Amino acid sequence: MTAAIVARRLSKVYPRGRISALLEVDLEIPQGDVFGLIGRNGAGKTTFVRVAATQLLPTGGTMSVLGHDVVDEADRIRPRIAAVPQESRPLYFLTVDQLVYLYLRLRGLERADARERTDRVLAELDLTALAHRLVSRLSGGMRRRAMVAMVLASDAELLFLDEPTTGLDPIARREVWAAIRRAQREKRTVLLTTHYLDEAEALSARLALLDGGRVRLEGTPAELRQRVRLPYRVSVEGVFTRGELEPYGEVSDVNGGHLVFAQERDARELAMAALGRGARVAMAPVTLEDIFLQVVGRRLDDEPAAAEGA
Ligand SMILES: Nc1ncnc2c1ncn2[C@@H]1O[C@H](COP(=O)(O)OP(=O)(O)OP(=O)(O)O)[C@@H](O)[C@H]1O
Ligand SMILES: [Mg+2]
Repeated sequence: MTAAIVARRLSKVYPRGRISALLEVDLEIPQGDVFGLIGRNGAGKTTFVRVAATQLLPTGGTMSVLGHDVVDEADRIRPRIAAVPQESRPLYFLTVDQLVYLYLRLRGLERADARERTDRVLAELDLTALAHRLVSRLSGGMRRRAMVAMVLASDAELLFLDEPTTGLDPIARREVWAAIRRAQREKRTVLLTTHYLDEAEALSARLALLDGGRVRLEGTPAELRQRVRLPYRVSVEGVFTRGELEPYGEVSDVNGGHLVFAQERDARELAMAALGRGARVAMAPVTLEDIFLQVVGRRLDDEPAAAEGA
Protein backbone atom coordinates (compact mmCIF):
# COMPACT_ATOMS: atom_id res chain seq x y z
CA MET A 1 0.00 0.00 0.00
CA THR A 2 1.63 3.25 -1.09
CA ALA A 3 0.84 6.28 0.96
CA ALA A 4 -0.46 9.53 -0.51
CA ILE A 5 0.31 11.43 2.69
CA VAL A 6 2.77 10.52 5.43
CA ALA A 7 2.96 12.67 8.56
CA ARG A 8 5.70 12.00 11.09
CA ARG A 9 5.53 13.76 14.46
CA LEU A 10 3.87 16.61 12.67
CA SER A 11 3.21 19.67 14.80
CA LYS A 12 1.73 23.06 14.18
CA VAL A 13 1.80 25.91 16.64
CA TYR A 14 0.05 29.03 15.40
CA PRO A 15 2.13 32.07 16.26
CA ARG A 16 -0.91 34.07 17.34
CA GLY A 17 -2.18 32.88 20.68
CA ARG A 18 0.46 30.12 20.64
CA ILE A 19 -2.14 27.44 20.05
CA SER A 20 -0.86 23.92 19.38
CA ALA A 21 -3.25 22.83 16.67
CA LEU A 22 -1.33 19.61 15.87
CA LEU A 23 0.82 17.71 18.37
CA GLU A 24 3.26 15.13 16.97
CA VAL A 25 0.76 13.60 14.60
CA ASP A 26 1.79 10.31 12.98
CA LEU A 27 -0.55 9.41 10.16
CA GLU A 28 -0.40 7.56 6.85
CA ILE A 29 -3.09 8.13 4.30
CA PRO A 30 -3.13 5.43 1.61
CA GLN A 31 -3.33 6.26 -2.05
CA GLY A 32 -6.47 5.71 -4.11
CA ASP A 33 -9.14 5.78 -1.43
CA VAL A 34 -11.27 8.08 0.70
CA PHE A 35 -9.78 8.90 4.09
CA GLY A 36 -12.03 10.55 6.65
CA LEU A 37 -10.77 12.99 9.26
CA ILE A 38 -13.17 13.56 12.14
CA GLY A 39 -13.04 15.37 15.48
CA ARG A 40 -14.63 18.17 17.45
CA ASN A 41 -14.42 21.85 16.55
CA GLY A 42 -10.82 22.93 16.99
CA ALA A 43 -9.45 19.36 16.92
CA GLY A 44 -6.94 20.28 14.19
CA LYS A 45 -8.59 18.87 11.05
CA THR A 46 -8.39 22.00 8.92
CA THR A 47 -4.86 22.66 10.10
CA PHE A 48 -3.83 19.17 8.99
CA VAL A 49 -5.52 19.64 5.63
CA ARG A 50 -3.90 23.04 5.07
CA VAL A 51 -0.42 21.73 5.86
CA ALA A 52 -0.96 18.81 3.45
CA ALA A 53 -2.30 21.16 0.78
CA THR A 54 0.90 23.26 1.16
CA GLN A 55 -1.03 26.32 2.33
CA LEU A 56 0.51 26.36 5.78
CA LEU A 57 3.97 25.44 7.04
CA PRO A 58 4.34 22.97 9.89
CA THR A 59 6.35 24.01 12.95
CA GLY A 60 7.66 20.52 13.75
CA GLY A 61 8.04 17.06 12.27
CA THR A 62 7.68 16.21 8.60
CA MET A 63 5.01 15.54 6.05
CA SER A 64 5.32 14.13 2.57
CA VAL A 65 2.54 14.37 0.02
CA LEU A 66 2.65 12.20 -3.11
CA GLY A 67 6.26 11.46 -2.26
CA HIS A 68 7.36 15.08 -1.84
CA ASP A 69 8.17 17.10 1.24
CA VAL A 70 5.61 19.84 1.98
CA VAL A 71 8.28 22.34 3.00
CA ASP A 72 10.98 21.86 0.38
CA GLU A 73 9.01 20.56 -2.58
CA ALA A 74 5.65 22.29 -2.43
CA ASP A 75 5.99 23.20 -6.12
CA ARG A 76 6.07 19.53 -7.04
CA ILE A 77 2.94 18.83 -5.02
CA ARG A 78 0.68 21.72 -6.04
CA PRO A 79 -0.09 20.72 -9.65
CA ARG A 80 -1.21 17.29 -8.46
CA ILE A 81 -3.68 18.34 -5.75
CA ALA A 82 -6.92 20.32 -5.52
CA ALA A 83 -8.68 21.63 -2.43
CA VAL A 84 -12.09 22.85 -1.32
CA PRO A 85 -11.25 24.94 1.75
CA GLN A 86 -13.60 25.06 4.72
CA GLU A 87 -14.28 28.73 4.16
CA SER A 88 -14.34 29.18 0.44
CA ARG A 89 -14.84 32.40 -1.45
CA PRO A 90 -15.35 31.61 -5.10
CA LEU A 91 -14.94 34.36 -7.66
CA TYR A 92 -18.27 36.13 -7.51
CA PHE A 93 -18.15 37.81 -10.93
CA LEU A 94 -18.11 34.48 -12.81
CA THR A 95 -20.99 32.20 -13.65
CA VAL A 96 -20.99 28.66 -12.28
CA ASP A 97 -20.01 27.30 -15.69
CA GLN A 98 -17.16 29.80 -16.08
CA LEU A 99 -15.94 29.11 -12.54
CA VAL A 100 -15.46 25.41 -13.23
CA TYR A 101 -14.30 25.71 -16.85
CA LEU A 102 -11.74 28.47 -16.18
CA TYR A 103 -10.38 26.62 -13.16
CA LEU A 104 -9.78 23.56 -15.34
CA ARG A 105 -8.18 25.66 -18.09
CA LEU A 106 -5.91 27.32 -15.50
CA ARG A 107 -4.87 23.86 -14.39
CA GLY A 108 -3.72 23.26 -17.95
CA LEU A 109 -6.49 21.10 -19.36
CA GLU A 110 -7.25 21.32 -23.09
CA ARG A 111 -10.42 23.12 -24.20
CA ALA A 112 -12.37 20.01 -25.19
CA ASP A 113 -11.41 18.10 -22.06
CA ALA A 114 -12.25 21.06 -19.80
CA ARG A 115 -15.61 21.48 -21.57
CA GLU A 116 -16.50 17.84 -21.23
CA ARG A 117 -15.50 17.64 -17.55
CA THR A 118 -17.38 20.85 -16.74
CA ASP A 119 -20.61 19.63 -18.32
CA ARG A 120 -20.33 16.27 -16.64
CA VAL A 121 -19.72 17.62 -13.14
CA LEU A 122 -22.47 20.23 -13.40
CA ALA A 123 -24.91 17.48 -14.36
CA GLU A 124 -23.64 15.23 -11.60
CA LEU A 125 -24.08 17.87 -8.90
CA ASP A 126 -27.39 19.08 -10.28
CA LEU A 127 -25.96 22.47 -11.21
CA THR A 128 -26.81 22.43 -14.93
CA ALA A 129 -29.84 24.67 -14.44
CA LEU A 130 -27.62 27.14 -12.57
CA ALA A 131 -24.72 26.98 -15.03
CA HIS A 132 -25.21 30.54 -16.29
CA ARG A 133 -26.09 32.14 -12.99
CA LEU A 134 -23.52 34.43 -11.39
CA VAL A 135 -21.81 32.92 -8.37
CA SER A 136 -22.70 36.08 -6.44
CA ARG A 137 -26.38 35.22 -6.93
CA LEU A 138 -26.20 31.68 -5.57
CA SER A 139 -27.42 30.55 -2.18
CA GLY A 140 -24.80 29.40 0.35
CA GLY A 141 -25.38 25.72 -0.36
CA MET A 142 -25.31 26.22 -4.14
CA ARG A 143 -22.02 28.10 -3.83
CA ARG A 144 -20.57 25.28 -1.78
CA ARG A 145 -21.63 22.78 -4.47
CA ALA A 146 -20.02 24.94 -7.15
CA MET A 147 -16.71 24.82 -5.24
CA VAL A 148 -16.96 21.07 -4.81
CA ALA A 149 -17.74 20.75 -8.53
CA MET A 150 -14.58 22.68 -9.43
CA VAL A 151 -12.33 20.41 -7.45
CA LEU A 152 -14.00 17.13 -8.40
CA ALA A 153 -13.89 18.04 -12.09
CA SER A 154 -10.13 18.58 -11.94
CA ASP A 155 -7.58 15.96 -12.88
CA ALA A 156 -5.83 16.20 -9.49
CA GLU A 157 -4.70 12.89 -7.99
CA LEU A 158 -5.29 14.05 -4.44
CA LEU A 159 -8.39 15.98 -3.41
CA PHE A 160 -8.86 17.83 -0.14
CA LEU A 161 -12.49 18.29 0.80
CA ASP A 162 -12.83 20.20 4.07
CA GLU A 163 -16.47 19.83 5.12
CA PRO A 164 -17.76 19.68 1.54
CA THR A 165 -21.35 18.97 2.57
CA THR A 166 -21.80 21.42 5.42
CA GLY A 167 -24.93 23.45 4.70
CA LEU A 168 -26.13 21.22 1.87
CA ASP A 169 -29.67 19.87 1.72
CA PRO A 170 -30.05 16.08 2.03
CA ILE A 171 -30.40 15.54 -1.72
CA ALA A 172 -27.42 17.72 -2.61
CA ARG A 173 -25.40 15.87 0.03
CA ARG A 174 -26.14 12.54 -1.66
CA GLU A 175 -25.06 14.02 -5.01
CA VAL A 176 -21.74 15.07 -3.52
CA TRP A 177 -21.37 11.56 -2.06
CA ALA A 178 -21.90 10.05 -5.51
CA ALA A 179 -19.29 12.38 -6.99
CA ILE A 180 -16.82 11.47 -4.23
CA ARG A 181 -17.46 7.79 -4.91
CA ARG A 182 -16.72 8.37 -8.57
CA ALA A 183 -13.40 10.02 -7.66
CA GLN A 184 -12.66 6.95 -5.56
CA ARG A 185 -13.47 4.61 -8.47
CA GLU A 186 -11.04 6.63 -10.56
CA LYS A 187 -8.44 5.69 -7.93
CA ARG A 188 -7.97 9.24 -6.78
CA THR A 189 -7.21 9.91 -3.12
CA VAL A 190 -9.72 12.00 -1.19
CA LEU A 191 -9.01 13.50 2.22
CA LEU A 192 -12.42 14.33 3.62
CA THR A 193 -13.30 16.14 6.81
CA THR A 194 -16.86 16.11 8.05
CA HIS A 195 -18.98 16.43 11.16
CA TYR A 196 -21.57 14.06 9.69
CA LEU A 197 -20.41 10.76 11.06
CA ASP A 198 -22.81 8.75 8.92
CA GLU A 199 -21.16 10.41 5.94
CA ALA A 200 -17.66 9.68 7.25
CA GLU A 201 -18.58 6.04 7.71
CA ALA A 202 -20.39 5.69 4.39
CA LEU A 203 -17.54 7.11 2.34
CA SER A 204 -14.25 6.41 4.10
CA ALA A 205 -12.13 3.32 3.70
CA ARG A 206 -10.16 4.48 6.74
CA LEU A 207 -10.69 7.19 9.33
CA ALA A 208 -8.72 9.11 11.90
CA LEU A 209 -10.23 10.73 14.96
CA LEU A 210 -8.35 13.88 15.98
CA ASP A 211 -8.74 15.32 19.42
CA GLY A 212 -6.88 18.32 20.78
CA GLY A 213 -4.31 18.07 17.96
CA ARG A 214 -3.58 14.38 18.49
CA VAL A 215 -4.71 11.25 16.69
CA ARG A 216 -6.83 9.26 19.12
CA LEU A 217 -7.95 6.44 16.80
CA GLU A 218 -7.09 5.42 13.25
CA GLY A 219 -8.20 2.54 11.07
CA THR A 220 -11.05 1.09 9.02
CA PRO A 221 -14.50 1.61 10.54
CA ALA A 222 -14.44 -2.05 11.66
CA GLU A 223 -11.02 -1.62 13.31
CA LEU A 224 -12.22 1.49 15.13
CA ARG A 225 -15.06 -0.56 16.59
CA GLN A 226 -12.64 -3.14 17.91
CA ARG A 227 -10.51 -0.43 19.48
CA VAL A 228 -13.20 0.91 21.85
CA ARG A 229 -13.79 -0.59 25.26
CA LEU A 230 -17.51 -1.19 24.75
CA PRO A 231 -18.09 -2.17 21.11
CA TYR A 232 -21.78 -3.17 21.30
CA ARG A 233 -24.93 -1.15 21.84
CA VAL A 234 -28.07 -2.78 23.24
CA SER A 235 -31.28 -0.82 23.47
CA VAL A 236 -33.91 -2.15 25.81
CA GLU A 237 -37.45 -0.82 26.02
CA GLY A 238 -39.36 -0.99 29.31
CA VAL A 239 -39.39 -3.68 32.03
CA PHE A 240 -35.81 -3.22 33.29
CA THR A 241 -34.70 -0.74 35.90
CA ARG A 242 -31.44 1.07 35.49
CA GLY A 243 -29.96 -0.84 38.42
CA GLU A 244 -30.70 -4.19 36.74
CA LEU A 245 -28.86 -3.10 33.61
CA GLU A 246 -25.77 -1.60 35.20
CA PRO A 247 -23.92 -4.90 35.66
CA TYR A 248 -23.90 -5.38 31.85
CA GLY A 249 -22.21 -2.13 30.86
CA GLU A 250 -22.62 1.62 30.69
CA VAL A 251 -26.26 2.61 30.85
CA SER A 252 -27.92 5.77 29.63
CA ASP A 253 -31.58 6.71 29.63
CA VAL A 254 -33.27 7.12 26.29
CA ASN A 255 -36.89 7.70 25.33
CA GLY A 256 -38.98 4.82 26.68
CA GLY A 257 -36.05 2.73 27.86
CA HIS A 258 -32.29 2.42 28.16
CA LEU A 259 -29.24 2.19 26.00
CA VAL A 260 -26.40 -0.02 27.21
CA PHE A 261 -22.86 -0.01 25.82
CA ALA A 262 -21.25 -3.33 26.57
CA GLN A 263 -18.64 -5.88 25.62
CA GLU A 264 -19.80 -8.59 23.27
CA ARG A 265 -20.45 -11.30 25.87
CA ASP A 266 -22.36 -8.98 28.20
CA ALA A 267 -24.32 -7.60 25.27
CA ARG A 268 -25.44 -11.09 24.24
CA GLU A 269 -26.36 -12.02 27.81
CA LEU A 270 -28.37 -8.86 28.22
CA ALA A 271 -30.15 -9.42 24.91
CA MET A 272 -31.10 -12.96 25.94
CA ALA A 273 -32.26 -11.83 29.39
CA ALA A 274 -34.35 -9.07 27.86
CA LEU A 275 -35.94 -11.44 25.35
CA GLY A 276 -36.71 -13.82 28.21
CA ARG A 277 -38.68 -11.08 29.94
CA GLY A 278 -40.52 -10.06 26.81
CA ALA A 279 -38.81 -6.67 26.49
CA ARG A 280 -38.20 -5.10 23.11
CA VAL A 281 -34.47 -5.30 22.52
CA ALA A 282 -32.05 -4.47 19.74
CA MET A 283 -28.35 -5.28 19.70
CA ALA A 284 -25.84 -3.95 17.19
CA PRO A 285 -22.18 -2.96 16.89
CA VAL A 286 -21.57 0.64 17.99
CA THR A 287 -21.95 3.36 15.38
CA LEU A 288 -19.17 5.78 14.54
CA GLU A 289 -21.07 8.36 16.56
CA ASP A 290 -21.04 6.09 19.62
CA ILE A 291 -17.29 5.63 19.19
CA PHE A 292 -16.84 9.37 18.92
CA LEU A 293 -18.78 9.96 22.11
CA GLN A 294 -16.96 7.17 23.95
CA VAL A 295 -13.55 8.53 22.98
CA VAL A 296 -13.93 12.30 23.15
CA GLY A 297 -17.32 12.83 24.78
CA ARG A 298 -16.56 11.61 28.26
CA ARG A 299 -13.84 14.17 28.82
CA LEU A 300 -16.09 17.18 28.47
CA ASP A 301 -16.16 17.77 32.20
CA ASP A 302 -12.61 17.03 33.22
CA GLU A 303 -10.22 18.32 30.54
CA PRO A 304 -10.08 21.31 28.22
CA ALA A 305 -10.85 20.35 24.61
CA ALA A 306 -7.85 22.00 22.96
CA ALA A 307 -4.24 22.05 24.05
CA GLU A 308 -4.15 25.80 24.31
CA GLY A 309 -1.12 27.65 25.57
CA ALA A 310 1.10 24.59 25.00
N1 LIG B 1 -5.08 31.09 11.83
C1 LIG B 1 -5.09 30.68 13.10
N2 LIG B 1 -4.42 31.35 14.06
C2 LIG B 1 -4.41 30.92 15.35
N3 LIG B 1 -5.01 29.81 15.77
C3 LIG B 1 -5.68 29.08 14.86
C4 LIG B 1 -5.76 29.46 13.47
N4 LIG B 1 -6.49 28.54 12.82
C5 LIG B 1 -6.86 27.62 13.74
N5 LIG B 1 -6.38 27.94 14.97
C6 LIG B 1 -6.54 27.15 16.21
O1 LIG B 1 -6.02 25.84 15.98
C7 LIG B 1 -6.86 24.84 16.56
C8 LIG B 1 -7.30 23.86 15.48
O2 LIG B 1 -8.11 24.54 14.53
P1 LIG B 1 -8.63 23.83 13.20
O3 LIG B 1 -9.22 24.89 12.34
O4 LIG B 1 -7.54 23.01 12.63
O5 LIG B 1 -9.76 22.87 13.79
P2 LIG B 1 -10.85 21.97 13.04
O6 LIG B 1 -10.68 20.58 13.56
O7 LIG B 1 -10.80 22.16 11.59
O8 LIG B 1 -12.23 22.55 13.63
P3 LIG B 1 -13.67 22.74 12.92
O9 LIG B 1 -14.37 21.44 13.07
O10 LIG B 1 -14.32 23.80 13.79
O11 LIG B 1 -13.47 23.19 11.53
C9 LIG B 1 -8.00 25.60 17.25
O12 LIG B 1 -7.69 25.70 18.62
C10 LIG B 1 -7.98 26.97 16.58
O13 LIG B 1 -8.40 27.97 17.48
MG1 LIG C 1 -12.07 22.90 10.20
